[in-house]
Amino acid sequence: MKIVSVVGARPQFVKLAPIHAAAKAANVEHVIVHTGQHYDPMLSDVFFDELGIGAPDLHLGVGSGSHGVQTGAMLAALDGVFDEHLPDWVLVYGDTNSTVAAALSAVKLHIPVAHLEAGLRSFNRRMPEEHNRVLTDHAADLLLAPTQVAFDHLADEGLAGRTVLVGDVMTDVLFQVRSEVSDRPSKLVDELGLEARNYYLATIHRAENTDDPERLAEIVAALASLDKPVVLLAHPRIVAKAAAHGIDLTSGALIAHAPLAYAELIAAAMRSAGVVTDSGGLQKEAFLLRIPCTTVRTETEWVETVDLGWNVLANTADEIATAVVRPRPADTDSAPYGDGHAAGRVIETLQGKA
Ligand code: UD1
Repeated sequence: MKIVSVVGARPQFVKLAPIHAAAKAANVEHVIVHTGQHYDPMLSDVFFDELGIGAPDLHLGVGSGSHGVQTGAMLAALDGVFDEHLPDWVLVYGDTNSTVAAALSAVKLHIPVAHLEAGLRSFNRRMPEEHNRVLTDHAADLLLAPTQVAFDHLADEGLAGRTVLVGDVMTDVLFQVRSEVSDRPSKLVDELGLEARNYYLATIHRAENTDDPERLAEIVAALASLDKPVVLLAHPRIVAKAAAHGIDLTSGALIAHAPLAYAELIAAAMRSAGVVTDSGGLQKEAFLLRIPCTTVRTETEWVETVDLGWNVLANTADEIATAVVRPRPADTDSAPYGDGHAAGRVIETLQGKA
């Protein structure tokens, strides 16, 4: 069996790592195509190196642009790639522009498409990620759902017949890396002279939080006035928008820092007093590490983290300030994100349906 995986943005490289390992273990031919959506080394190369993926087989070098320009450039380039490789499956990941471009290209060429992390919904039609998910799920032939909630969303949309509940591959990576980093010090903590449990870790990058200067200024002010140092791992989007609007990312409690490689991120998160983020992946990683999370959004796809008390949605500056200092939630053994063996199930499912 031959699988072509198409990835392009940071969270997809994390999901690719366990899939690549599981494909190798099963002797499945696995071709990796990098669209080039993320090109900064700290958003891209470092994940390939550190998570043992090796280099992508093909790099399309698409780069940045408006949604239409970026997605269109990927579409145009992917037709030729799929035609040449004619895989049994094109595997697409998550909800980025790279996901929808690859799904659309493959489906038009009548090549079976599987969507990993299918069925997530924010029900917020203003998010680019929501369009990408819905369009990809309805185009794909096989929907690999990470959770029961995701499965149920797909069933509600009439897609249960194409869906398999496999678990969340991000749990696979997290469990592995957590055991590797739990005994070694965090470089970030040492570098910034922080004290374990006495700092917050923050990431803000979503268009709805960064692109409107008033919104961005409100979030930055809320973080700057927290009671402990706040290390902001600054994605290029927030750096560019803050610079364009004269917003200081180092005021008050804020310390701006470059994004971290995966193991360092986990090491820093697990020693923090809490995480403040608008990332999907980090909400779940915080939950799996049992670190309280505050999510700067009006809704989340990972509703289990909220239902279990480990994640609080906070939108205004006041809500952020209150949520971050809330008491630690009650412990739980609940495992809505699977057992850490999802990638093996993905490969078995693809083999069973090829
Ligand atoms: C993308 C995904 C988002 C995911 C995120 C993870 C879409 C619509 N969004 O958002 O779902 O959570 O990745 O990081 O696909 N830029 C750089 N260097 C890079 C990459 C981007 O400077 O390596 C700049 C670009 O100039 C661009 C901005 O960052 O203006 C945003 O990049 P883009 O790929 O459009 O979306 P992300 O915000 O990264």
